[in-house]
Amino acid sequence: MSHGTDPPEERELLGLLLKERNLPYSEYGVDKSVLASWQSRKLISLLEASKKNWAVSVRRGGRLRGVAIAEYLPWDSKIFGLDIASLRYVGGEEKTKVLEVFRDESAKRGLHKVFARVRSEEVETGQSLESIGFRLMDAIVTATIDVENEKLKAPRNPRVKVRPYRKGNSNDEGAVLAIAKEAWSKARVATNHFHADPELPEAKSNQLYVEWARNSVNGRDDFCFLAEADGRVAGFVTGSNLVHLEKEIGLRIGALSLAAVAPWARGRGAFMSLAAEALRRISQRGARHAEIGTHITNYAVQTASSRLGLRSCSSSFTFHWSTERPNS
Ligand SMILES: CC(C)(COP(=O)(O)OP(=O)(O)OC[C@H]1O[C@@H](n2cnc3c(N)ncnc32)[C@H](O)[C@@H]1OP(=O)(O)O)[C@@H](O)C(=O)NCCC(=O)NCCS
Repeated sequence: MSHGTDPPEERELLGLLLKERNLPYSEYGVDKSVLASWQSRKLISLLEASKKNWAVSVRRGGRLRGVAIAEYLPWDSKIFGLDIASLRYVGGEEKTKVLEVFRDESAKRGLHKVFARVRSEEVETGQSLESIGFRLMDAIVTATIDVENEKLKAPRNPRVKVRPYRKGNSNDEGAVLAIAKEAWSKARVATNHFHADPELPEAKSNQLYVEWARNSVNGRDDFCFLAEADGRVAGFVTGSNLVHLEKEIGLRIGALSLAAVAPWARGRGAFMSLAAEALRRISQRGARHAEIGTHITNYAVQTASSRLGLRSCSSSFTFHWSTERPNS
């Protein structure tokens, strides 16, 4: 058996992906060969896009037996002042071996931290990650609704008014950032992988969500709606129609990105009203499906999703590896 950092060929990668039981969006009935070639193209372009992205592979008799592909995360790295990457794919029958090679290469490259998200069905991959020093940080549950064919159940609270965010309006931006600052620090309701990692400073994890909200309302996402109650901004939701997916895999889908409600306004349906408006907007822009993903401990979002008619469709675990604890 040999191993190295030579990138796999697209054809070889496709061979591994075709053997996967669970590929992203397989729950929508997209043909497996379409998903596998889409993923292999995406992973190869990622490797071609930057020298900071890399692959390790394990071969036996020249045949690819395992591969791991990582993407450097400039945004997360800047926020935490650490070099952080994300494991985008690990596959093949020699998973534990390839992950050992991957861990050693991550250390050699001076990475401080590597994130890995695996679908919950892939318990064995999670266990392989644990065996080489990755630690569980959070779990995400995603729910979906066919907004084209199913009627939206939208329980409304007449005391909560939802309106579009005004781009470039400093009051609206200030209100969103103030809510984000509180909602993901002392008024947090769920565990997320940044805050769950004791090695990531809490203040920086708090800041990450504020920066995420800022980017989201300044063009990273398609839409933002604000909820108003008692004449004040009480919450916000952002999201997008993932239009590139229609061209790439024939899936018309949109998703909520970020949402938060100020602590004083919680428990009166503000999130439910915001989510309902976001789903309507996703539908109006031509999507067939809309998704809401949340942390497994975010019971309010899961309750609201199910009351709006969404059904759970996929879930994943997030792990972190760190140079501080390479093998523990
Ligand atoms: C999660 C959050 C957005 C919910 O906002 P909210 O306006 O209080 O939610 P709603 O009032 O619309 O409640 C939604 C549903 O969840 C229920 N709910 C609220 N807290 C709950 C809990 N701890 N367990 C179970 N259900 C809960 C509500 O009762 C409601 O269901 P109901 O209408 O059947 O009673 C808010 O708590 C928040 O901003 N949290 C911090 C940031 C965050 O986690 N954002 C979401 C992830 S991106």
